[in-house]
Amino acid sequence: MSKIVFIGGGNMASCLIGGMIANGMASEKILVSEPGAEARQKLSELHGIETTADNRAAAGQATLLVLAVKPQIMAAVVKDLATALGHKPAVVSIAAGIPIAALENWLGSEIALVRAMPNTPALVKSGATGLYANSLLNDQQKQLVDQLFESVGYACWVEREALIDAVIAVSGSGPAYFFLILEAMQKIGRELGLPEQTAEALSLHTALGASRMALESDATAAELRKQVTSPGGTTQSAINSFEQQGLENTFRQAMTSAVNRAEQMSEEFTS
Ligand SMILES: NC(=O)c1ccc[n+]([C@@H]2O[C@H](COP(=O)([O-])OP(=O)(O)OC[C@H]3O[C@@H](n4cnc5c(N)ncnc54)[C@H](OP(=O)(O)O)[C@@H]3O)[C@@H](O)[C@H]2O)c1
Repeated sequence: MSKIVFIGGGNMASCLIGGMIANGMASEKILVSEPGAEARQKLSELHGIETTADNRAAAGQATLLVLAVKPQIMAAVVKDLATALGHKPAVVSIAAGIPIAALENWLGSEIALVRAMPNTPALVKSGATGLYANSLLNDQQKQLVDQLFESVGYACWVEREALIDAVIAVSGSGPAYFFLILEAMQKIGRELGLPEQTAEALSLHTALGASRMALESDATAAELRKQVTSPGGTTQSAINSFEQQGLENTFRQAMTSAVNRAEQMSEEFTS
């Protein structure tokens, strides 16, 4: 049977498998290759799926092959799989920083390749994934990839691979920006006299509420901000202070720095 095969059965694989099954994918259609016996047992108990420790045998059954190992071991894993992919499955890499050219080089043959950049909230089915494919991916394979990543949140395609670095700067690293903002809001809430739990709960619910409002409304973020900012009020005063401190430029510098680091990492894998 043609299967969706995961090489590496860690956090991200388990989360994608859980999403697919919750969305109606039959568990018999999923196979995971994972070296850890304990991890294999956990995966089959949790998802009712078949597991193996034989990467090459698993890959031989794949219609879609998802490479879900750490970037540091990707070269060795992919080179070992190269001669097991004669049936030309579509191959999806979720490893941060590894460019299509490196994967093509390690595989040594022409094959449909997808570079996916999911983010950590995928673990709670609220992820945001950017996708890029080489020209060999067909519509049916593309649909399957969409199904896979939409099962754990939002997914979209970018037209050029270089834009994956922008995806990394926006959504890949993005959860940490929001955690940092939450940290600051909670700390200052406490400094202003709120009990720790209250500051935490208020900031978390505010982040969730703002995000939900922005998602559910047709208005842009800028319009929503204006709607909640009465002239001369408290919000206006806080926003003025952010603007005077150069908040937008702070974000520009931080996100440009993330892009630069992503480019460097790609170069390390291609050199
Ligand atoms: N977690 C995220 O939020 C996130 C977000 C975006 C992208 N990613 C990317 O997703 C990939 C997986 O991340 P993760 O968080 O799921 O990591 P993880 O939990 O460490 O999963 C990787 C799994 O691969 C297994 N493995 C090691 N060597 C292997 C081999 N030769 N063949 C097959 N499997 C092997 C590991 O087993 P052992 O533990 O026994 O070594 C582990 O279970 C990474 O490339 C990461 O960059 C993750």
